[in-house]
Amino acid sequence: MYKMYCRSYQGIMRMSSRFLPWREPELIEGENSLSKLPKVIKNQGVNRTLIVTDKGIIAVGLMNDFLENLRSEEIEFVIYDKTVPNPTIDNIDEALQLYKTNDCQGIVAFGGGSPIDCAKGVGARLARPKKTINQMKGVLKVLKKMPPLFAVPTTAGTGSEATLAAVISDSRTLEKYAIMDTSLIPHFAVLDPTLTVGLPSHITSTTGIDALTHAVESYIGRSNTKETRQWSVDAVKLIFDNLYEAYTNGENMNARKNMQKAAYYAGMAFTRAYVGYVHAIAHTLGGSYGLPHGLANAIILPYVLEYYGESVHKPLAELADVVGVCEPSDSTSQKASKFIKAIRDLNERMEIPSKVNCIIERDIPLLIERALKEANPLYPVPKILYKEDLLHLIKAIKA
Ligand SMILES: NC(=O)c1ccc[n+]([C@@H]2O[C@H](COP(=O)([O-])OP(=O)(O)OC[C@H]3O[C@@H](n4cnc5c(N)ncnc54)[C@H](O)[C@@H]3O)[C@@H](O)[C@H]2O)c1
Ligand SMILES: [Fe+2]
Repeated sequence: MYKMYCRSYQGIMRMSSRFLPWREPELIEGENSLSKLPKVIKNQGVNRTLIVTDKGIIAVGLMNDFLENLRSEEIEFVIYDKTVPNPTIDNIDEALQLYKTNDCQGIVAFGGGSPIDCAKGVGARLARPKKTINQMKGVLKVLKKMPPLFAVPTTAGTGSEATLAAVISDSRTLEKYAIMDTSLIPHFAVLDPTLTVGLPSHITSTTGIDALTHAVESYIGRSNTKETRQWSVDAVKLIFDNLYEAYTNGENMNARKNMQKAAYYAGMAFTRAYVGYVHAIAHTLGGSYGLPHGLANAIILPYVLEYYGESVHKPLAELADVVGVCEPSDSTSQKASKFIKAIRDLNERMEIPSKVNCIIERDIPLLIERALKEANPLYPVPKILYKEDLLHLIKAIKA
């Protein structure tokens, strides 16, 4: 009965999704392409902009040239740099205040998924001044234009530069949830690989597996389309071909460029075809314990894929073929196992742990409740899971 309700809900979402005003960001791509952004901002009629970023980006001086170029174009700016990983409602409120008191006309999101999502939160509040972030939780609660948003990703993972989602944490309830609305898709995205060459190796690895998780969860879900499957396949291939190289040899510009593209493709795939239980569990661990999103996904992904069992053998076997980790003579289930093993091996080579060590036993019922609330009925997962399944999974990943 419950399963039928979930599947019908997903069916309705799948059909109505066709009528949504989907946009893709206009891409500004290539080495040093960031230098083109100030002119683009100016051409959009933006003379004063808010920049949303974080302390880590400021500390490594990643924005310096860009700020200089903004000055040359006579674009005024005000910087909000207090965004935390797993950005909070407080971050959004503070940045919004800066936007308003300085009469800004657009927003530059400069950083990983956290600053980009924080900037989207500001955009949502500007589009809907009477609604709180909490009231915009879930699907299609914004439905109004926000000011121009220019996303400059500096990690190759979340794909937030391509997606309709902003994932926000409420520091009071420790809940982490998504606002999903096509009006939050950035208007411009800068894919400049020079911005990621200095990314520390542990962030390269975990954010890269976040992108892999987007590609895989959208590929095995039931709302994928021919187009999203192709984006997923392209992303999976690029990630297996480039992530380890980017991790070990961060200066390899080609590997960085390919990872940036992979994250973007994976974002394009999941913004239409959704994610699944891996993300639902990762979000609840991010909200409760501040566990970095990519790390959480990297640990959880193989467990959930294994647990899905036969329901994912066919799509995972296809991905095993894409990556080239199996023999043509292998059976479908052998191929699927080999794909899961390839993810485990990649994690291990990048020294990503296989268990989460911050889960507190007494929190488990709440973690389960929140993960299920996020995933069911919305995510078109290959197999509907229940409390006891999540209990099994969380116990398995807990150190
Ligand atoms: N909106 C979406 O579609 C979407 C999708 C997946 C994840 N997310 C969210 O994105 C957030 C995670 O984003 P993230 O994984 O990109 O990490 P992040 O933005 O939290 O950044 C992690 C750390 O890396 C540092 N950093 C970023 N770029 C750097 C660089 N080039 N050089 C040196 N340091 C750098 C930052 O300062 C920060 O300390 C989570 O909240 C997650 O839920 C959003
Ligand atoms: Fe993610």
